Amino acid sequence: MRRTIIAGNWKMNLNKAGVDTLVSGILNGLGALKSPPVIMVFPSTIHLSEVASAFKGKNVEVGCQNIYPSKLAAFTGETSIDQLKDLGIENVLLGHSERRQFLGETDEFLNQKVHHALSEKMKPMLCVGETLEEREANKTFDVVKRQVREGLKGVSKEDAKSITIAYEPVWAIGTGKVATPEQAEEVHAFIRKELAEVFSPELSEEISILYGGSVKPDNVKSLLEKPNIDGGLVGGASQKPDSFLGLLV
Ligand code: 13P
Repeated sequence: MRRTIIAGNWKMNLNKAGVDTLVSGILNGLGALKSPPVIMVFPSTIHLSEVASAFKGKNVEVGCQNIYPSKLAAFTGETSIDQLKDLGIENVLLGHSERRQFLGETDEFLNQKVHHALSEKMKPMLCVGETLEEREANKTFDVVKRQVREGLKGVSKEDAKSITIAYEPVWAIGTGKVATPEQAEEVHAFIRKELAEVFSPELSEEISILYGGSVKPDNVKSLLEKPNIDGGLVGGASQKPDSFLGLLV
């Protein structure tokens, strides 16, 4: 059974005061939620320790925004899964478009990260999505297909269930331009078809595919109603307690 997940990507947007306010606001609101989805947050690495202990035992999963694909070793400025395990962290976001765009992460490097994460029994969330230029050139499906297939190359069927995909059209991130539920569903259905070919039709039904890009409390429901949209990966609206809690419908 695939899970409905609402995940907050805090990016590099918050200092300690912002994190404290957000964490305590979420904790205060959790009790009132009737049947919440799986809740996940991805703080900056520097805040992981504090956030992981605040949410311990609270049904909020914590994940890292990135990893380096190596055991403990000399890689200045990077984070190893060995260090995340000390904090009980199992989720890792990989291939966010900001990392692809500004830090030059390639499909090949992301595939290394996916394999490393899986070999360490972590749960990777692989982000894919086209730019505005690519969409306007009718390349959306080509781009998404390449990112899914290259990113997951060589992943075994046994590991498939540990993976989550996040479809985040770059033109919808932080722009207020949300994809319509129909636009998002079209790409999600396409991703599910790709997963069926890469793994199997049965396994493709087990993998959650989240939508990201200007998700807000007032549009989340119409997105989640679509059969292939299993949740949201949310930036801006996840960084204020009220709007984050408003997504957990
Ligand atoms: P926004 O929700 O701010 O558009 O960001 C989406 C995103 O990049 C989540 O990873």
